[in-house]
Amino acid sequence: MSQTALLRPVEFRSVVAKNRIAVSPMCQYSAIEGLGQDWHLQNLGAKAAGGAGIVFTEATHVSPNGRITQGCLGQGDDAQETFAARLVALIASAGAVPGIQIAHAGRKASSLRPWEGGGFVAPESEGGWLPVAPSAKAFTPDRPVPNELSVVEIDEIVTEFARTAGRARRAGYQILEIHAAHGYLLHSFLSPVTNLRSDRYGGSAARRARALMDVIDAVRAEWPLELPLFVRLSCVDWVGGGLTINDSVQLVTWLKARNDVDLIDCSSGGILPQQNVPSIHPGYQVPFAEAIRRETGLATGAVGMIRSADLAAEVIANGRADLVLLGRILLADPGWPRRAAAQLGEPMLDLPQYQRAAPAI
Ligand SMILES: Cc1cc2nc3c(=O)[nH]c(=O)nc-3n(C[C@H](O)[C@H](O)[C@H](O)COP(=O)(O)O)c2cc1C
Repeated sequence: MSQTALLRPVEFRSVVAKNRIAVSPMCQYSAIEGLGQDWHLQNLGAKAAGGAGIVFTEATHVSPNGRITQGCLGQGDDAQETFAARLVALIASAGAVPGIQIAHAGRKASSLRPWEGGGFVAPESEGGWLPVAPSAKAFTPDRPVPNELSVVEIDEIVTEFARTAGRARRAGYQILEIHAAHGYLLHSFLSPVTNLRSDRYGGSAARRARALMDVIDAVRAEWPLELPLFVRLSCVDWVGGGLTINDSVQLVTWLKARNDVDLIDCSSGGILPQQNVPSIHPGYQVPFAEAIRRETGLATGAVGMIRSADLAAEVIANGRADLVLLGRILLADPGWPRRAAAQLGEPMLDLPQYQRAAPAI
């Protein structure tokens, strides 16, 4: 592919994004009882106008108890769906594809917002609640031991994922990503470090994958076949005895065979606080996207410290991933895609309102 393939359209099922730059999901901790606010509109609107081809919402939780913090977005009632429809229209009006990430925080639920300390919220007296998990193991010793989910409770959460997907479809989102990374509920089923069950949801790799597979089945029943479905994985746990890239290749081989997932968003880590990442440097997670794409043939997204136009362009041009997802650089600079395009010699002129903008450098 050419050096400017980053700026070429990409197609997933019936959806075409104008380029291969996506806004990575980023919690803003600014919702009120799960409901998005003006902050969400301006934040994601700016990123759509900034030129990204796909704009993902932050992790949007399938139930109040599945939220990471009391400031996290939900998608479980009519007011939330109405808000989402407005957000979708706003993103689309600036030429980007609106995507939603749906999630359950599992044992990391009921945290304080990062700027409040990020620790556990005491149950009830401070508005917190007891988290749930595949096994009764706390994320840190200072957090309470989560409730081990029964099979019936797992079924209920699977149904909540499906219900949330249905609301996302009605709101008009065009891509849905299931969050199965960063130590949240679905990742904690996948990882042998946090899943100590011996029933049909634990033990072998296939059984640990069952919760994710059940969620995909249920979500696909609500999310039409013409719309793409992505899955975010922590491709490695960065802890001894945890998931390795070979485990993730095996999992994605199973996902590919199902034919209903369109892209693996390749992140890493988050399962234990004492993870050991040997080196965090620009593009440090790209090799996971590259390996999964090469070994399974499924499309991948690369994420993690991709901050220069040259690196983003190289990842796509060399077929190491099909998308780049950018996080913190887009928090700092929503106009990054326009600057990157100018640097790569192809100024973005798609928005008539911005055609007289000073050249981005
Ligand atoms: C403020 C903030 C909030 C985040 N929230 C989410 C989230 O809701 N879902 C998710 O999968 N990752 C989340 N992440 C991780 C990012 O999506 C991304 O994977 C990570 O920041 C690495 O990419 P970067 O180096 O380009 O920032 C968050 C990161 C930040 C900085």
